[in-house]
Amino acid sequence: MKTRYIYIATFGCQMNVHDSEQMAALLEEEGYRLTQDSARADVILFNTCSIRDKAEQKAFSELGRLVKLKEKNPGLLVGFGGCLAQHLGEGVYKREKAVDFVFGTHHISRLPEILAAVTNGKKRAVETCFFSEIQSLGVFAPPAPGELSAFVSIMQGCDNYCSYCVVPYLRGPEMSRPPEEILEEIRKLACCGVKEVTLLGQNVNSYGKNLAGGCNFVSLLKSIEAIQGLERIRFTTSHPKDLSDDLIDCFRSLSKLCEHIHLPVQSGSNRVLKRMNRGYSVGEYCAKVERLRTVCPSISITSDVIVGFPGETAKDYQETVDMMEKIRFDSLFSFKYSERKGTAARTFNDPVPEAEKQRRLKELQALQDRHTQEKNSALEGSVQEVLVEGPSKNSDSDMTGRTRAWRIVNFKGGRELAGKKVKVEITRGFLHSLRGRMINR
Ligand code: 5AD
Ligand code: SF4
Repeated sequence: MKTRYIYIATFGCQMNVHDSEQMAALLEEEGYRLTQDSARADVILFNTCSIRDKAEQKAFSELGRLVKLKEKNPGLLVGFGGCLAQHLGEGVYKREKAVDFVFGTHHISRLPEILAAVTNGKKRAVETCFFSEIQSLGVFAPPAPGELSAFVSIMQGCDNYCSYCVVPYLRGPEMSRPPEEILEEIRKLACCGVKEVTLLGQNVNSYGKNLAGGCNFVSLLKSIEAIQGLERIRFTTSHPKDLSDDLIDCFRSLSKLCEHIHLPVQSGSNRVLKRMNRGYSVGEYCAKVERLRTVCPSISITSDVIVGFPGETAKDYQETVDMMEKIRFDSLFSFKYSERKGTAARTFNDPVPEAEKQRRLKELQALQDRHTQEKNSALEGSVQEVLVEGPSKNSDSDMTGRTRAWRIVNFKGGRELAGKKVKVEITRGFLHSLRGRMINR
């Protein structure tokens, strides 16, 4: 039988990257082969993001290019999935002729079935209902040969309804995967040579809320720590309101848990945080940061900030700048507020003009660059544990890897180091990476 190829275009966050890996694993089980060349594909899947308008525009502009491919290859099937598919449903067909089927965020495990129905019936499909239980993928997504690091989804959905955010409407209510299933997957990954896992969820700190048996995120982490062969544990994303003292203590007590936490603050103004429905004050956030740094002085703290939320005054914005100066994040993602259909913030008056949003964004990015550079320079002379990923893109004689705090380090070394943990003395801190010298294995 002729080999059938799939091409997957992924937009958005780590959650989507992982969802695409799962789609690939499922369809490979069905005999498809993954290709990086869309012109060769028999099936093209779009895994889309809808968190900000920019992501939405990008998906549609790429999709527009497929019309030509379809003219050349009339048998080509195009599936449109992910958050934007969930959001638009049947409306996708109105916007883009090239699409053959639409599958929402709860339908990844049903892809083979949906694809078979569309292939046989040649009928357009729209699958966007939510299920009340988390759907098991049913297959193990094996890591690529030599892959050291893997994502593991531990939950889906979100119950927080931050007023700007569309995620709860598109990914449904929060549901946790049973711990045995997660542990089994990580054991298998470790057997395949994976040394580092990143646990994924919209708010991993509230893992277990809907599970019988009393498992919570801390107990899950403790069970993962015991898995043989695994060397590093990471997780993302954390909600500050659910970050417990017990979890903070794990940064001291669990040796595999890496010294990095992504803890989105969103704003430094209590007035804005309230309107965002975040459930904490700036003071409470700062107290958690202080506790994290007391328990684990080398911890790297990264965050997200939104500028230009409706009604954000110059004073509110200045409070965000002041908070950043006080906390000094290791790195920060900053975004211009983007109005999303169906969210509470859409009904708020007083939009911030686009030019002012842009000005605030640029200023925050420059401030953060200064902080990141200072943090990276301060590491010069220190010795870091680096998990070596492979040869560097920029030089044949360099290897590259990451510190436990998620910083990229480049250093002279041979290819045999790939997959090993080495000690590297940092000789130079740049804005986006560190340079170092290996001191031993
Ligand atoms: N506009 C701008 N940024 C947003 N985020 C989520 N929704 C919006 C929006 N409507 C940002 C938040 C979140 C990150 C993943 O995306 O900062 O933490
Ligand atoms: Fe969106 Fe808030 Fe849920 Fe994060 S916690 S996914 S920002 S609603």
